[in-house]
Amino acid sequence: MDRTALIRALPKAELHVHIEGTFEPELMFAIAQRNQIEIPYKSVEEVKQAYHFHNLQSFLDIYYAGAHVLIQEQDFYDLAWAYFEKCHADHVVHTEIFFDPQTHTDRGVAFETVLNGLKRACDDAKARLDISSHLILCFLRHLSEEAAFATLEQALPYKDQIIGVGLDSSEVGHPPSGFERVFARARAEGLLVVAHAGEEGPAEYVWEALDLLKVNRIDHGVRSEEDPELMQRLIAEKMPLTVCPLSNLKLRVVDDMAQHNIQRLLQQGVHVTVNSDDPSYFGGYMNDNFFAIADALDLSTDELKQLVKNSFEASFISDAEKQKWIRQIDAIV
Ligand code: ADE
Ligand code: ZN
Repeated sequence: MDRTALIRALPKAELHVHIEGTFEPELMFAIAQRNQIEIPYKSVEEVKQAYHFHNLQSFLDIYYAGAHVLIQEQDFYDLAWAYFEKCHADHVVHTEIFFDPQTHTDRGVAFETVLNGLKRACDDAKARLDISSHLILCFLRHLSEEAAFATLEQALPYKDQIIGVGLDSSEVGHPPSGFERVFARARAEGLLVVAHAGEEGPAEYVWEALDLLKVNRIDHGVRSEEDPELMQRLIAEKMPLTVCPLSNLKLRVVDDMAQHNIQRLLQQGVHVTVNSDDPSYFGGYMNDNFFAIADALDLSTDELKQLVKNSFEASFISDAEKQKWIRQIDAIV
């Protein structure tokens, strides 16, 4: 089997995808029309041409603007369903999906509207495509800790539908330490916790996510490599990093895919995984991310196999499910 065929054939788990970042321009256009919301573009082509960004903030400005057309429960369903179809095409068999409730509740959309639409798509994905999923509620770190607490309170009546909480949005200037108490509360409620750290922000933010938020995984974390002591800690604790190669390239965390550190991290024993982050904006879904790093870094069969095994091991599924997928991977390779 050649490398492309192998990537397609391997079952994969996705652990870092923002549902609002899977919003394809065609669907955005259709939903804007049915909700009669004006968007400043005349065509799908114009939307695509507006996607110019050179760092995290310039991307986030466009990403939040796009999310404004989502109003009805059906909109959130359609958004998530379109993503599940991409998972099916890429043989992603399990996914842990981030959603940003504050982006919607701050515009007057009810929390239940967002959650019910997403959850119904998750249930249909299991029934019709045999894809399992979990939802992870992310707090927007450019907003206050108080606002994060209010969001957590809204979510607690539905906590059986949410596996955990995360922390996203503008990283630099918004360290994890500002959210220590709300994460402690989430953990006390039995929720798992993850946080974006070390994407644009320094290794120090990864330490804070570990020590103060007590995360189960680090999202991105690629800048951890700048701190040898942190690297030792990640390796010793087998702490997963959910790495997003095409995102890192588009947001200029790296200048060139050939310089991406995912292979070095893997070879040093860091528990790295491959993910798409905001695939509609960054040029590809799961398999595109694998193709991009496999070609640029000349990844071996063993490295590809390790990356997909890591994705299941780092996921929030049961040990029995993890073993089932790992056996399937061994059978394929
Ligand atoms: N929200 C959506 N994508 C993000 C990213 N890559 N980093 C931080 N927040 C985000
Ligand atoms: Zn992200």
